[in-house]
Amino acid sequence: MLDPFVTMPASSRQALRADYRAYLDERDGSLDVERRQLSRREARMDALLSVGASRSLDRALFDAQYADYDRRRTTPVEMQILLAMVKVNGAEAYGVDTTFETIFGRVASGEDDDTELRLLVEESYHTRILLSATRIFGFDVDRPYAPPLSLRTMIAAIGHSPKALARPLVLASEVLGTIVFANLFLRIDRLLAHDPELRDAIAERLVDVLVDELGHVTFNRMMLGSGGVAIARRLLPIAARGTYRVVPEFEALGLPLSTDVSVLDRLPESIRRQAFVA
Ligand SMILES: [Fe+2]
Ligand SMILES: [Fe+2]
Repeated sequence: MLDPFVTMPASSRQALRADYRAYLDERDGSLDVERRQLSRREARMDALLSVGASRSLDRALFDAQYADYDRRRTTPVEMQILLAMVKVNGAEAYGVDTTFETIFGRVASGEDDDTELRLLVEESYHTRILLSATRIFGFDVDRPYAPPLSLRTMIAAIGHSPKALARPLVLASEVLGTIVFANLFLRIDRLLAHDPELRDAIAERLVDVLVDELGHVTFNRMMLGSGGVAIARRLLPIAARGTYRVVPEFEALGLPLSTDVSVLDRLPESIRRQAFVA
């Protein structure tokens, strides 16, 4: 079973970290810190962004639901999925912005290698990958969703908290992200059964994100002992409640709040094979 809350033996962590580092080089190519770009991911982004508009939607309804989701308004399932995709990474995008300079400072001073910086850049691709789905409907959302002030305050607090607390919080949110994307991915077949082409385009984006997130979970576990992992486990439901408040679309899609990690075992082997899982 893929259990993100099992502590890794201290003796194997260093070697695993080196393996993960090599895996990232292979998957992402080289890092351009100034531009916050990864060479191989840029090529992939170009492909995702080059899709032509093949669907349309009620833009006024989309904008209204984006600003403040109202369950009483009849909203097509495609739009609910699109809304969930453009909103779900808002908190993460904000987190990347608040922590980038701190992590960069550690790399610049030689305190750390750039592995974690690469993860942050991967996170910024997640936002872009998820937002790219709107291209299929002929429009762009070029800015990540702004989480409400209460959540922004919490994220900023995580960014500035001491390492001992920040790491378990990061692990909890990585595990949560993995659960959320896995649940959406596993449901997409049924939700979009009437439109296989759109289903595949959405699934493709979710796979890109899921593969990274599984690696992020492994990496953050690698950095924690049993005490830290136990804290992360306790923080998971708190992080989940925060996300679900911000993205009510999940419940509208029949995906109620879940912190059940067993969903990860239902992911297809092809995803696990691409991911760094240990
Ligand atoms: Fe992410
Ligand atoms: Fe992540």
